[in-house]
Amino acid sequence: MSADIARSGFVDSRGMSIHVSPRIAAIPHYEPGLTTADVMERYGLDAAIKLASNESPYPPLDAVQEVVRQGATGLNRYPDGAARALRDALAEMHGVDRANVVIGNGSCELLLLAGQALLDPGTTLIHPDPSFGLYPHLAAAAGAEAIAVPLNGQGANDLEAMAAAVDERTRLVIVCSPNNPTGGYSPADQIESFLDMLPEDLPVIIDEAYYDFVTEADRGRPLANARRRQNLLVLRTFSKAHGLCGLRVGYGMGSTSWIAALDQVRQPFNSSTLAQAAAREALRHAPAHDRRVQETIAERARVAVALAGMRVPFTPSQTNFILIRPEASGISLHERLLAEGVIVRNGGSLGCPGSLRVSIGTPQENDAFLAALTRVLGD
Ligand SMILES: Cc1ncc(COP(=O)(O)O)c(C=O)c1O
Repeated sequence: MSADIARSGFVDSRGMSIHVSPRIAAIPHYEPGLTTADVMERYGLDAAIKLASNESPYPPLDAVQEVVRQGATGLNRYPDGAARALRDALAEMHGVDRANVVIGNGSCELLLLAGQALLDPGTTLIHPDPSFGLYPHLAAAAGAEAIAVPLNGQGANDLEAMAAAVDERTRLVIVCSPNNPTGGYSPADQIESFLDMLPEDLPVIIDEAYYDFVTEADRGRPLANARRRQNLLVLRTFSKAHGLCGLRVGYGMGSTSWIAALDQVRQPFNSSTLAQAAAREALRHAPAHDRRVQETIAERARVAVALAGMRVPFTPSQTNFILIRPEASGISLHERLLAEGVIVRNGGSLGCPGSLRVSIGTPQENDAFLAALTRVLGD
């Protein structure tokens, strides 16, 4: 048993372990954030709010909840492995064919499948940094090399530097726009110039997990591009704006060759009956969905104005979270907010030391966050 494996937590209480591939053992362990129950217990609080995981503060729409309840009776049968009805609904909504859509157990699964389908030892994956923590994992899992390209000054992907990092070993490039954890957005013109610089057959993913919260007029143009560029896959998810992260459903749209590659490696029943039904129902309620998204966008603007008033530096965001860089000394601000019952994400664990990533919650939650921040900064 190697020391690396021991450190990675594969050893049980009797000191026993199974043989684990060293490249898997070397993948940094994912530490999930604290729950409200953890924080209430630790600080003896009656209540806590969680603004740490970029979730929707709202439960799924009533009609979606009802479909999930009713769907329970059919769970003795396997789901439709091809998720035909959901693919059709998404294809119609986006003006593509069913063969251009793939469904995943969250968009995380589609990212992992892309790594499996495209990467091998000796090849490289290019991704922005800091960005979504799963990206380097795809390369590690495949024994490939992850090349992390620092963001530009606006907290968005440095697309020119990413294009410059491409060489004959590159098998996948991931663009994250808007970028997690900064919220910076890459304009469509920049993405188009970037794609023009790449070989036509080099697979590119544009991860648009936060698409719904984008207010820029050019949003959606990367998808329009995917219709004519064979190498492009656009990823979206029901986890954020639709409030369905607990059900795990994400989707990709791209050329039939991209979809076939992912279908080739996915397990036959990768998305559950309930996930498919809930996602389809969610698509039927666009006005209610839009109202919620607009509220989050309005709250994001309100929180940004309040932060500016408090002279707390932050990165302008096109997502449902804001990355802030408060000046604070002594025990970490993160800890002090936890003690106030406000759970935000420590930027240190996201590659942004000295920052905090704060999800946009309900108006009441955002008020509670701003009040707690005012208190701890005044300490
Ligand atoms: C940039 C980005 N992509 C993908 C995901 C994964 O979303 P899911 O697997 O829930 O669809 C997240 C989740 O936080 C994310 O921030």
